[in-house]
Amino acid sequence: MNELNSLYDLIGGETALRALVNRFYDLMDSSPEAKDVRALHAKSLGQAREKLFMFLSGWSGGPSLYIEKYGHPRLRQRHMPFSIGDIERDQWLWCMNRALDESEILPAVKEHLKIRFTEVANFMRNKLET
Ligand code: HEM
Repeated sequence: MNELNSLYDLIGGETALRALVNRFYDLMDSSPEAKDVRALHAKSLGQAREKLFMFLSGWSGGPSLYIEKYGHPRLRQRHMPFSIGDIERDQWLWCMNRALDESEILPAVKEHLKIRFTEVANFMRNKLET
């Protein structure tokens, strides 16, 4: 992908990315299907919304907002304080896949994002299932 065709542009740039992240956290906040993953987060989702938007901006080839403000993401390490297993991963992905399905993002781009998010979410697990 060249700069004109970054994933960031294909998603629809800042406006569409912010809308996706906001819908993702609205779903997490209001859906019984996501109650365990919601419980891991702070009472206010304000900081999580801003940080995920900033991270995904750079991750998708747009402005590196997160790195400029917080340095290297070290995403797995930053998730270590939270106990994340299959249930939490599945609930996170349930919210994200639903937010994507509801969005205006092109179907091929949606499918690509679902695969990439699944990879990152799998990597974030840190709890051994018994
Ligand atoms: C697999 C399931 C996941 C769980 C249970 C989870 C949970 C959390 C929690 C509880 C926080 C702290 C939020 C707060 O301030 O209240 C957080 C932060 C964050 N998460 Fe996740 N997360 C998951 C997957 C992901 C994935 C797949 C991504 C990226 C694609 C991601 C990106 C982030 C970022 C950028 C932050 C902010 C980190 C920081 O600067 O502190 N997370 N996550």
